[in-house]
Amino acid sequence: MQTSVVAGDPASHEADLLALCVREGAVASGKLADARLADLDRAVGGLLLRCAQDEEFKGAEGQQLSLHSHGKAGPLRILVLGLGREKDADRTLDQLRAAAARAVKAAKAAGAKTLAIAWPWAAGAAFEREVQAAAEGASLGAYAFDRYKKEKKALKLSRVELLGPSKPARSLAQAAKLGVSIAEAVNAARDLVNEPAGRITPRALAAEAQEMARLHGLRCEVLSRPQIKKLGMNLFLGVAQGSTEEPKLVKMSWEPRRATGKPVALVGKAITFDSGGLSLKTAQGMEDMKTDMAGAAAVIAAMRLVAELRPPFEVRAYFGACENLPSGTAYKPGDVIVGKNGTSVEVLNTDAEGRLVLADVLAWAVEEKPAAIVDLATLTAAILVALGPWISGLFSNDDALAAELQAAARTAGEPVWRMPLPPEMEELIKSPVADLKNIGGRYGGSINAALFLQHFVGKLPWAHLDIAGPASVDKERGYNPRGGTGAGVRLLAEWIRRRATSSASAPRAR
Ligand code: BES
Ligand code: MN
Ligand code: ZN
Repeated sequence: MQTSVVAGDPASHEADLLALCVREGAVASGKLADARLADLDRAVGGLLLRCAQDEEFKGAEGQQLSLHSHGKAGPLRILVLGLGREKDADRTLDQLRAAAARAVKAAKAAGAKTLAIAWPWAAGAAFEREVQAAAEGASLGAYAFDRYKKEKKALKLSRVELLGPSKPARSLAQAAKLGVSIAEAVNAARDLVNEPAGRITPRALAAEAQEMARLHGLRCEVLSRPQIKKLGMNLFLGVAQGSTEEPKLVKMSWEPRRATGKPVALVGKAITFDSGGLSLKTAQGMEDMKTDMAGAAAVIAAMRLVAELRPPFEVRAYFGACENLPSGTAYKPGDVIVGKNGTSVEVLNTDAEGRLVLADVLAWAVEEKPAAIVDLATLTAAILVALGPWISGLFSNDDALAAELQAAARTAGEPVWRMPLPPEMEELIKSPVADLKNIGGRYGGSINAALFLQHFVGKLPWAHLDIAGPASVDKERGYNPRGGTGAGVRLLAEWIRRRATSSASAPRAR
């Protein structure tokens, strides 16, 4: 599927399917308020308005209207998609992602080869962002995980054309290309999450990172047990010791030729399967636990975009991949383990494993003194209780970093909600026999986990995204398919892009 921006008038542009996106109110009191909708209606002899009235189509978000042009207009079929009301520029971008994804799904269902998408354009640079979002939505909507299905729905759709005004500028072509790349990276993360744990073992995940790095010109180091041991990562090794699969510690990096900004670090949780260990989960509780490496999947995919965005600062990505399984060699409740940074931890629940691995990996990343460190993890079920299935919890010791991520998240269409790190809750994770214990009480589980992680980042600006909710969804929702969503990829790409833009204009850092 190829996506491009072309100059085109919706009523006359030739395509198997035209998706015309309109605002709420485009059809009101028997009239067509949207100019392009009115043009199209004229071409089809007033059929559009009649259909709209019959079906009470107003352009509300999610509403749609489908008709045949019977050769009277450029497109063979017409799909009018409601965008809903206009709120702000960021919301518009997400409305466009969703509409473009719906257009692609309709094109797929209709067996269309070419799809044209048009919407009410914003002026200037805002239109570039819209083109990028529409391109993202189209490729996000085309995604299917059908690798293991005998019957695969072949995608006939070969061309998506985003209709722009006059002769599209080069910057618009670039915006479309970036949108496609971003969606492809998200789709790659989805694949990694959807792939069963029997396939994506720690070794396989490390190999995926290496392959991605090779293809995109990044550095990638993969360390095995003896080296992990040498680094003193006993918390990581403790979690890994229940499985016969070898743990892998991975560091990927983007190094610009001449750095003018400060390095940033990304860390992802990479439990390729979480059974809970000896504190075993229920059968239902572990059904989805192949997705417990979604943080690492997001980080790997984001690095691919970093290679394309080419920020003028280093970006390093880290993950410690292992399985959490019960066995005769597994770590046990009551074990006390001293982590890489010298902090001792009493393990009271082997199912609170993510924070243990992250603790050592964060401590490692911190030693290399990045200017900011962001981790993504499917860390707690409690974050679903707090924020529901679609919002990530954002924890940070740095208001400026938190604000950057919140703004990037809005533009990327990835909802996050800032959560507190209350010092008075520290007592809940104090252990009578060690510096910390790996669980708190019954309440505030996501906060306890974040407070735990905070002990391993020193004073560096740090943010933790608990993506346990949005990393996967149990049924299709908008441009997200059932299963892995690639949560965090667009957010990270947007955050890096913003930092790159601001550090390009800032005085040269040392
Ligand atoms: N990977 C899970 C968190 C999770 C649960 C993610 C459900 C997505 C859906 C994590 O390792 C875990 O098991 N957390 C425990 C912590 C508890 C033992 C303190 C949890 O949230 O129940
Ligand atoms: Mn667990
Ligand atoms: Zn886990």
